[in-house]
Order: sequence, then structure tokens, then C-alpha cells
Amino acid sequence: MNGIKLRGTGSCLPSRILTNGDLARRVDTTDEWITTRTGIRERRVCTGETHSGLCTAAARTALKRAGVTPGEVGVCIVATMTADAVIPSAACTLQKTLGLPADTLCFDLNAACSGFLYALHTMECLLAAAPRKFGLVVGCDVLSRVVDWSDRSTCILFGDGAGAAVVEWRAAWPSIGAVLGCHGNTELLYCPGPGSRDDPYLSMEGQKVFKFALEAVPWCMDRVLERHGLTAEDVDVFVFHQANARIIDLVAKKYRIPAEKYYKNIECRGNTSAASIPIALSELEAAGRLPDGSRALLVGFGGGLTWGGALIEIGRNV
Ligand code: COA
Repeated sequence: MNGIKLRGTGSCLPSRILTNGDLARRVDTTDEWITTRTGIRERRVCTGETHSGLCTAAARTALKRAGVTPGEVGVCIVATMTADAVIPSAACTLQKTLGLPADTLCFDLNAACSGFLYALHTMECLLAAAPRKFGLVVGCDVLSRVVDWSDRSTCILFGDGAGAAVVEWRAAWPSIGAVLGCHGNTELLYCPGPGSRDDPYLSMEGQKVFKFALEAVPWCMDRVLERHGLTAEDVDVFVFHQANARIIDLVAKKYRIPAEKYYKNIECRGNTSAASIPIALSELEAAGRLPDGSRALLVGFGGGLTWGGALIEIGRNV
């Protein structure tokens, strides 16, 4: 025993909507191809907005919904691979914009699209030793900065955005029981950093990543359910990383999850990488679909190849 519960969430999306039609005017593709293969119809992309601005707005909403002040936060982690700067980290910038106390642990974490799950687990471990027992976990990516807009196989998939979660740690609460891992794969999904001489764009072998996701998601679900001694029926809502509607639908079918128990926003968000799960949580909360005491099973997967799953309880009025 000792773990975290989800207290409040928030999200922020850039205002510019990029439709499949807009993309079909840039590369050799069609709305029909993109919709059929991915389920995506449109995505948001930053024009004037910054990564830091998205993080701050998402975090403010999460703190407000949680009823927690910046002064009560003990740890702040931003899961990202596209921050405005390498130094300072997005989390340090967030400390400044939100006014978090000076002894708050603030750092970024990169586990690509699994970043939010890695960050939640790290948060649970760190809060046990932190000065204050509320933690702020933000997932934010501005992939439009690293997408090759002339590559039709990748540019259609991604969108920008931020999602945030405020969690609370107590010794009497059970752990989220996160399962995390990595294959050490350096080829299937690649995006060079500032020190690289490679073209500064994200590249991907889509079919192989698709196959990996179809193995990783059920594996994570089974391990998480096993750790908690539960079955899929005991879970109130499933939130999967939004990478492709076909992946989500295939998993939902395999586990016979009814439509009202899983969430899909990929149609209008695209794949927002580390932000996809917290954005989904925030939209679920806004829709009244995360009642107090309910349990959400989260599964992410992505570059690395990384994966992560966890079961988190909503603890708003405790
Ligand atoms: N429009 C039209 N045709 C396209 C296209 C596009 N935007 N992108 C690729 N194609 C073409 C290919 O060139 C290929 O043509 P060919 O058969 O003449 O060579 C054909 O469509 C099939 O390509 P393929 O890559 O096999 O398609 P797919 O069915 O695997 O779908 C993805 C591609 C990317 C949608 C799919 O593989 C996917 O979603 N993978 C997982 C991606 C993912 O989750 N990434 C993030 C992990 S966090």
C-alpha cells in the first residue's frame, strides 16, 4: 500500500484545425485514405502557441478542477519530446509560470507516446518522499515541429496539444500498479535530437509499429488487471493512447469492452503523443465520465519501443 489517486485533469489545444482536406492539398493523399486507415479527420497544430503556453493552460485547469493550489504541489513532471528548449526543461518553465514552490522537484521525462504512463509511475514513487503530497503530471507534445510535412506516411498522423493531471499520494492508498517496459528499438520510430546530423524529422515504419501496438496493449492490460486482481468488467473506463482508431477498436473487440467504457477522440485530435492520454482524461472529466471512486485503466505505447499501463482511481472528494 501507498499510492496515488487522480484528483483533477485539464487540457489545452492550439486553435488551428488542420483537416485531411488541408493535407491532401500538400501531399499525395485523400481524406478517404486517412479516415479509413487511421480514423483521423482533423488535428490541431500550433501556429502562434508555444509548448510552454499549452502546458501552463492545461496545468491551470487541472489544478482548478482538483481544488489544489500551486503552493501544494511537491513534484512536477512534464512528459515530452518536443519542449520549447532543452534548458530550461518544460517543467522548470512551468514552475515559473505557475509559481510552484522552490523545493518542488521539476523535470522532463521522454518516453515518447508512453511518456504519461512513465511519468505517473515516477510521480507515485517520488511523492512518497516529497515535501508535499500533490503531484502535477503534464503530457505535452508539439509534433508539428518535427514532422516532415512532405512525408504522407507520417504527417497525417500527428497533432499538437497538452493534457495535465493533478494526483494525490497517501500511504493508505493502493499503488496504481504500473507496468512499464522498452524494447531498445532504435529504428522503427526515430526522431533526431539537437546534437544529431540527421534530417531533423520524425520517421516511422508504420506497419511494424502497428503490429507492436497490437501486442503491447493487450499485454499491458493483462498484467495491470492481474496486479490488481481484477477483470476487464471491473474497470469503469479504458483510456488507450490515441494512435490509430483501428488499434483501439481491435483491442475493444478482443476484450468485449462496450462503447461507453472506452474513449476515442482520435477523429479530431490525431496522435498527440505524450498528451493523448491526459487530454482524453480531461475530456472525460469535463463530460462527467470520471465520477469519484471510478477506476480508469490507462495504456500507452510508442517510440523506443516503449509501453506502459496502470489503473488509477479517481479520488476527488477524499
Ligand atoms: N495517403 C495515401 N497513401 C498512403 C499514405 C497516405 N497518407 N501513406 C502511405 N500510403 C501508401 C503507402 O505508400 C503504401 O503504398 P504502396 O502499397 O504503393 O507501397 C500504402 O499506402 C500502404 O502503406 P502502409 O504503410 O502499409 O499502410 P498501413 O495500412 O500500414 O497504414 C499507418 C499506415 C501509418 C496508418 C499504420 O501503419 C499505422 O497507423 N501504424 C501505427 C502508427 C502508430 O501508431 N504510430 C505511433 C506510435 S505512438
